[in-house]
Amino acid sequence: MNTPARVKVIDVGPRDGLQNEKQPVPAAVKIELVHRLQAAGLKEIEVTSYVSPKWVPQMADNHEVMAGITRLPGVAYSVLTPNLKGFEAALLDQPSEIVVFGAASEAFSQKNINCSIAESIERFAPVVEAALAKGIAVRGAMSCTVGCPYEGDISPERVAYLAQLMKGIGVQRVDVADTIGVGTPRRVQAAIEATLQHFGIDEVSGHFHDTYGQALSNTLAALEMGVWNFQSSVAGLGGCPYAKGATGNVATEDVVYLLHGMGIDTGIDLDALVDAGAYISEQLGRPSGSRVARALLAKRAS
Ligand code: HMG
Ligand code: MG
Repeated sequence: MNTPARVKVIDVGPRDGLQNEKQPVPAAVKIELVHRLQAAGLKEIEVTSYVSPKWVPQMADNHEVMAGITRLPGVAYSVLTPNLKGFEAALLDQPSEIVVFGAASEAFSQKNINCSIAESIERFAPVVEAALAKGIAVRGAMSCTVGCPYEGDISPERVAYLAQLMKGIGVQRVDVADTIGVGTPRRVQAAIEATLQHFGIDEVSGHFHDTYGQALSNTLAALEMGVWNFQSSVAGLGGCPYAKGATGNVATEDVVYLLHGMGIDTGIDLDALVDAGAYISEQLGRPSGSRVARALLAKRAS
């Protein structure tokens, strides 16, 4: 076991978490959420995406949200950019990192970004080049690395193929995403193993949705391989609009509780994080999706 002593948790709640909300979430609430996350000690926050507002209306306020954030030194603010149009829009807001997002499944690539895997790489290549030329970091999200809502099981070979394409265009690090949360530990490890053919362990993050309740087990399985970057959403917010039925990311509170319980340092104040989750849950008018947050809030109340 190579369990790391320290883990970086990347909260993707403002983007992955809120992109799928049916009710409008005011930009001011998104900004306040980012402020609370950074106050809780998060050092990386995925804030928004520069995608078509017809496809994902909830992210149409990207400029307003990015402009409204009071940035803290040492905190990275990442945004999704699927093409040059998105990248040029994002550039105005000076993100720390941009994320191109592809899929290991052809069908998901078509449904999510309206092009094949090969076409997506052609679109990403100039985005990656332009970002690197401007000194902006580049991450690649790899969706459906275990299962696809349209194609079913996805083999590790297809994950390795996508990772190789991402590496080939200059993507610096990648997320191994279980978009629909169907993965179990050995299958997730196989997807990570496939990715490690092309990226180093420091360049791989785990991004696990919790639809089948496996995300914490999958996090532990990835940790045991030495993965030390993980994406999660405060209060377990989220889901992808093009992965129907998939629930949110694993809750950041749950991941942090797991890590601290194992003696792994995150730099995050769990109590402040629970407050951030309580804030957004209240704004959305529903209980937190985090078991840890619900337990700690109940303990506080008693
Ligand atoms: P398209 O329709 O193929 O694009 O969409 P197009 O180039 O043909 O343009 C069509 C229209 O979209 C034009 O406008 C463009 O200007 C506009 P019109 O002339 O019709 O008025 N357009 C844009 N507008 C704003 N920003 C842009 C942009 N590009 C074109 N960047 C496109 C292609 C990728 C834009 C579209 O499919 C799209 O926006 N998809 C959204 C996908 C998305 O956001 N999905 C959720 C995020 S991914 C995710 O959640 C998974 C992840 O969490 C990991 C995991 O869990 O798996 C990352
Ligand atoms: Mg996701």
